Amino acid sequence: MIKVVHTIKEVRETVKEWRKEGLSVGLVPTMGFLHEGHKSLIDKAVEQNDRVVVSVFVNPMQFGPTEDLDKYPRDLAADTRLCEAAGANLIFNPEPEEMYDEGFCSFVDMNGPTAELCGKSRPIHFRGVCTVVNKLFNIVQPDRAYFGQKDAQQLSVIRRMVKDLNIPIEIVPCPIIREADGLAKSSRNTYLNPQERQAALILSRAIKVGQQCVEAGERDAHKVVDAMKALIETEPMARIDYVEAVDLNSVQKIDKVQGEVLFAMAVYIGKTRLIDNFIVNIK
Ligand code: PAJ
Repeated sequence: MIKVVHTIKEVRETVKEWRKEGLSVGLVPTMGFLHEGHKSLIDKAVEQNDRVVVSVFVNPMQFGPTEDLDKYPRDLAADTRLCEAAGANLIFNPEPEEMYDEGFCSFVDMNGPTAELCGKSRPIHFRGVCTVVNKLFNIVQPDRAYFGQKDAQQLSVIRRMVKDLNIPIEIVPCPIIREADGLAKSSRNTYLNPQERQAALILSRAIKVGQQCVEAGERDAHKVVDAMKALIETEPMARIDYVEAVDLNSVQKIDKVQGEVLFAMAVYIGKTRLIDNFIVNIK
């Protein structure tokens, strides 16, 4: 039976018991409203560890003042069923006050990988992500933690943080899970009305166009990006936030498609901001 706990103390006590038995522990950090994308992370964690903790916490610190914190979808009962069926052992679902008590004033921040892409349109976002993920790492102290390539910049940022701060946790990347028609699964897809849901296919179609350009031999990153943008602009309901090519590890802009390159985009469909990406590795 899966256990759902709301306090840091309960997580610590449970993990302490597991450690006494010599068991390995995996952590899957989430904001809940879980779908097949999250499930793929939990599946991998269950495969690779004796015990798995899933955190479900809509972290206020990573949302800007005009963003969707209040309307972010929540359903702990459904999340619990999904985690239980996948074989996870513990859900940590704290209230914001449990994570950020009165007087909270310490942050984990970085320069570099957070400056481009989502860091531009969401200036405080990654400070919130790094801080909460650090806290979750310290609370659970897992052997491994699982992150999706869906949020490719987040993954690069977390990898950098773990390296820079000597955090003894293995970061395990997991591929993007998509709907049958190509749309990357996201809790935010629930915001889309039927017309917007259809229009949202422009993101995965732009990914295909970009991939085809690179496969055809295009090595000018700007030309690949332009082809992707041109397609997105044919969709009247779409508004581009960014489409960029960056080095996967440093998340700095590049001109030439060489080495590990991340092509990433954020596109508004109506009021909903969606992200998608693909990675190439050119020798
Ligand atoms: P959330 O958006 O809930 O995502 C939790 C994890 O699931 C992330 O690592 C994300 O990349 C992964 N994920 C989401 N959709 C996916 C998909 N379609 N395919 C594969 N993986 C997918 O990302 C966050 O929460 C937060 O920023 C968090 C790290 C929990 C910190 O608050």
